[in-house]
Amino acid sequence: MSSPSVILGIETSCDDTAAAVIVDGKLASSVVSSQQIHAIYGGVVPEVASRAHEKWLVTVVEKALADAGVSKSDLTGLAVTHGPGLIGSLMVGVSFTKALSVGLGIPFVGVNHLEGHLASLMLTDPAPPFPHLCLVVSGGHTQLMQIDGFASYRILGATRDDAAGEAFDKVGKILGLEYPAGPKIDQLAAGGNTAYHAFPRTRLKGYDYSFSGIKTSVLYYLNAFPEKERDQILTDSMADVCASFQEAVVDMLVAPVKAAIRETGVKQIGLVGGVSANSRLRARMKQLTDSVGGALFVPEMTLCMDNAAMIAAAGHVRLTQNESSPLTLTADPALKLI
Ligand SMILES: Nc1ncnc2c1ncn2[C@@H]1O[C@H](COP(=O)(O)OP(=O)(O)OP(=O)(O)O)[C@@H](O)[C@H]1O
Ligand SMILES: [Mg+2]
Repeated sequence: MSSPSVILGIETSCDDTAAAVIVDGKLASSVVSSQQIHAIYGGVVPEVASRAHEKWLVTVVEKALADAGVSKSDLTGLAVTHGPGLIGSLMVGVSFTKALSVGLGIPFVGVNHLEGHLASLMLTDPAPPFPHLCLVVSGGHTQLMQIDGFASYRILGATRDDAAGEAFDKVGKILGLEYPAGPKIDQLAAGGNTAYHAFPRTRLKGYDYSFSGIKTSVLYYLNAFPEKERDQILTDSMADVCASFQEAVVDMLVAPVKAAIRETGVKQIGLVGGVSANSRLRARMKQLTDSVGGALFVPEMTLCMDNAAMIAAAGHVRLTQNESSPLTLTADPALKLI
């Protein structure tokens, strides 16, 4: 019997320090240390994020190994996010992984963070068959893709301005909510009226998205009231404003997917990235795939947000194909998927 493949994945592209172990393609552990400190600044402070990664990465890796019941000497390969993301944050993970690779004498592979989000679907049971369409909705990206096989990607459409997660966070800031506001808006919207206010839906030709308009319209809607009245709305009708805003974003996200199903005939749909945790988006995407006799594939909640399990999953495939990265690999904040 051949010895098992034991892959350690490392993710430090933004403000989550994460490590995970995959044994023979199966997830054995996943540890994420989220940096709460950024909430007081209303957004991620790059310098603070890099320092926190450096401080916590060893502890997070040791916990991932212990949770998986393996030691460093059992590892057969390493996978690390090398872009896109914050340069200082990426450098911590990449440098650490290169050093570990040399120290242990095992190969490592650089993984694109977005490929990681797409690979999170490989950890769902069952995983979606190829081809499938995938809506990538995160803090930095909004893309509708057709996935024909591992690393065989076609971008059908993408946002021309803000990402969906960015829209949630920016509108959250306008509403006085803590960063990141997506989860809070989701929670508040559950008790609100989606028909309270009709925020405009931007629908571009083809499969592209735009979310800058909705952000501005929330701001204009509130600023149209005198300060006292505005404060009253935020006190009495916060849930309704959140529900109306969220419904508009979900409408805008779902419409191009519906068109793509019609035009490509592909009915197996993946939903990945931080915003895939949104309960209303999940429900509406499920309604859509049910209505066409297709299927929706969404990672479990802990794998929607940034994590290293998805990086290890993508790395596992690449390393199994005998791919590895050279020690000259560098962090690339603007790394493109294709
Ligand atoms: N339940 C939710 N509803 C809406 N948005 C959510 C929810 N949970 C998380 N988000 C949003 O998801 C985003 C974070 O997702 P993720 O961690 O994948 O993004 P990122 O890694 O910063 O960006 P990228 O993956 O594009 O580099 C934040 O904008 C957050 O507000
Ligand atoms: Mg992400």
